[in-house]
Amino acid sequence: MLKIQNFKATNQEFKEIIKIYNLISHDDIADYTETKNRWKIRDKTLKSDKLLLYYNNKVIGYLAFVNGRNENSQTFFFNILLNPKYSNLGYREKLYQEMLLKINNFRVTKIHSDVWEHKNYKSHHNFLIKHGFKCVQINKESFCKIKEVNLDNYRPLIKKLEKDGIKLLDSKYELNKNSDHYKKLEELSWQYAQDFPIPDGISHTREPFKQFLKEQIYFEKNEYGIELVAVKNNKYIAATDISVNHKSQPSVGWTGSLGVLREYRRKGIATALKVKAIDLLIKKGITEIRTDNEENNPMYQINIKLGFKPAPSQLDYLKVL
Ligand SMILES: CC(C)(COP(=O)(O)OP(=O)(O)OC[C@H]1O[C@@H](n2cnc3c(N)ncnc32)[C@H](O)[C@@H]1OP(=O)(O)O)[C@@H](O)C(=O)NCCC(=O)NCCS
Repeated sequence: MLKIQNFKATNQEFKEIIKIYNLISHDDIADYTETKNRWKIRDKTLKSDKLLLYYNNKVIGYLAFVNGRNENSQTFFFNILLNPKYSNLGYREKLYQEMLLKINNFRVTKIHSDVWEHKNYKSHHNFLIKHGFKCVQINKESFCKIKEVNLDNYRPLIKKLEKDGIKLLDSKYELNKNSDHYKKLEELSWQYAQDFPIPDGISHTREPFKQFLKEQIYFEKNEYGIELVAVKNNKYIAATDISVNHKSQPSVGWTGSLGVLREYRRKGIATALKVKAIDLLIKKGITEIRTDNEENNPMYQINIKLGFKPAPSQLDYLKVL
């Protein structure tokens, strides 16, 4: 018997959905406790939920959705993950229709979903095309076996920046005792994040400071790979953060973001941050880092020059209602 049930965030449900996630994911491996802990610190002002699809009391798929913040509150983002054994039987459609009913009250104007250019996502890709979704952004994913990066080539660059008064400091171990550290870090990331390429019709919105802090503390406690801040005369001018899922994939780092304030660009700071992060991660036993960049973002070419290799891209699809 087939039924769709609301998500109650029980351990059993997390175990079941992570089993499905790991059947489909082409690159990462998730652990249900890590996913559950992340769920606990989600921004509860957003409408995030999951719908679980049961067949004979066994979860065979799920749909996860959330809306955007402030100006994006009428835009919803969703994804459907289905055990491949149950693909192409109309179950994706059932979950999708149930979501539309659920979000009907929110005067939704746009819905987004993404897929990777990989065979595991073919059914979802076909589903989006069938429903009139259009591809609005391509994010190039790449990976780097970090021991292969020739760090010596970049030591003169880091020396030059130091001579110019720019220090690359570890956020958790060298900066977070300063009383205004988190305020400065949040302000910096908001400044550069506004230049991240995003699809037309979506606005950059600022996370409330309280939520930023919750996630930052969680990152430092549970997922810290490295976070480096470029500091000049006490001013935070650039930063990058790389997370590690210590339980499920302890040797892989996932890039969160990297950005430089506009007036400090084209001086090699992004390159230097990446190189120093790699140097420190190698010392922590990390062997690979992953990143994704919008296809025309200069950061993609900076990464390729450092030795990153292309992996399947992520395609962002939109449907205007
Ligand atoms: C992308 C970004 C991080 C680059 O930072 P940066 O410190 O200026 O980069 P670097 O100085 O290390 O650049 C190294 C090389 O990359 C290329 N490059 C960097 N920015 C470029 C641009 N806007 N256009 C063309 N080439 C560029 C150049 O070849 C440059 O070398 P050059 O200056 O000697 O010609 C910065 O523009 C930024 O913060 N953008 C907004 C946030 C963002 O998009 N981050 C990346 C996605 S997470």
